[in-house]
Amino acid sequence: MAQVLAICGSLRKGSFNRQLMNASISLAPEGMTIKEAPSFASFPLYNFDDQQATGIPAAVTALGEAIRSADGVLICSPEYNWSIPSGLKNAIDWLSRMKEVPFIGKPVCIQSAAPGLLGGSRMQYHLRMSLQSIDAQLFGKPEVIVNLAAAKFADGALKDQAALDLIKQQLASFGEFIKRVRK
Ligand code: FNR
Repeated sequence: MAQVLAICGSLRKGSFNRQLMNASISLAPEGMTIKEAPSFASFPLYNFDDQQATGIPAAVTALGEAIRSADGVLICSPEYNWSIPSGLKNAIDWLSRMKEVPFIGKPVCIQSAAPGLLGGSRMQYHLRMSLQSIDAQLFGKPEVIVNLAAAKFADGALKDQAALDLIKQQLASFGEFIKRVRK
């Protein structure tokens, strides 16, 4: 059984990406469970001086340990100004300073949703680079990029059948990827 930890890159109530994450949680294939990660909302802005003075905050350790004990990580995030939202990037920066970096060797799968045509794809590219720098194992294809999001979500849930089918395919392939990485 693969246990996957899901991180939402948006802190917004009514976030499309949270709804995307919830769709993935409910579509987890046989042999996989997906649960939401502890929040990074309370992480202070990363500052090396603060880290030296007071160490790694408890909330960072909580997320780091949850990542460490998971078999894989799913990140569902919006794109801000063509890149990674600052809250999520700040979380990665803190996690990268833990004594044993929890992302090392960890299978990671990315999804995004955005109202625009590119659906957060530029964020996905930047997130791949950032996670590669701390030796995560990035899952490749199929990619889940939910563009034109305003038309695909309703009543707090993802309704687009093509996107839902793609999520199922991606999670099934991610499950196989986790098995390959584990070997
Ligand atoms: C955005 N948005 C956005 N969308 C996009 O496709 N590319 C971008 O570069 C940006 N930049 C951007 C910057 C900032 C500061 C905000 C607040 C928004 C729009 C964004 O995709 C939209 O607000 C989504 O609904 C955000 O995702 P959640 O919160 O719905 O998950």
